[in-house]
Amino acid sequence: MYRKILVAVDGSSYSQKALETSRELALKTDPEVVIVVHIIENTALGVHASPDIHQRLFAEGHKLLESSAKVLEQDGIKAATVIKHDDAAKAIVSLAIENDVDLIVIGSRGLGRFGGLMLGSVSDKVLHFARCSVLVAR
Ligand SMILES: Nc1ncnc2c1ncn2[C@@H]1O[C@H](COP(=O)(O)OP(=O)(O)OP(=O)(O)O)[C@@H](O)[C@H]1O
Ligand SMILES: [Mg+2]
Repeated sequence: MYRKILVAVDGSSYSQKALETSRELALKTDPEVVIVVHIIENTALGVHASPDIHQRLFAEGHKLLESSAKVLEQDGIKAATVIKHDDAAKAIVSLAIENDVDLIVIGSRGLGRFGGLMLGSVSDKVLHFARCSVLVAR
């Protein structure tokens, strides 16, 4: 049913749920690949981003992607990873188009601090602009 699934991880418990959902779906639908993506945003880097911060965020992102891919590969699911410095929603939508993805899986919320919101701004934008189906894990 889904040939290519993209799952977006930011390190939050919500994106952990999204990863788990993509794993369960992949086990049922046997896709070619699950692409796990992590985006480093300018807000995470700050205005005065030093090369050090940049390097640290990329290193942390790589670790997150590695452990996420492992969760999938342990179950025999083919996983690919992408890390980028960009706007998260914009990157998720474009990576899905470029890779001919059928389904994007995201969490309803992320690392943001505004606990009262039902939907984070990244999920909101992805739902608006994605050209494929989107599953919001809650
Ligand atoms: N930098 C990122 N890289 C990859 N995926 C992300 C990133 N940021 C968010 N996501 C995805 O989007 C989901 C929702 O996160 P979102 O950022 O919209 O919520 P939030 O952090 O609570 O709110 P906001 O960022 O608007 O304060 C996450 O669970 C994750 O799947
Ligand atoms: Mg966020």
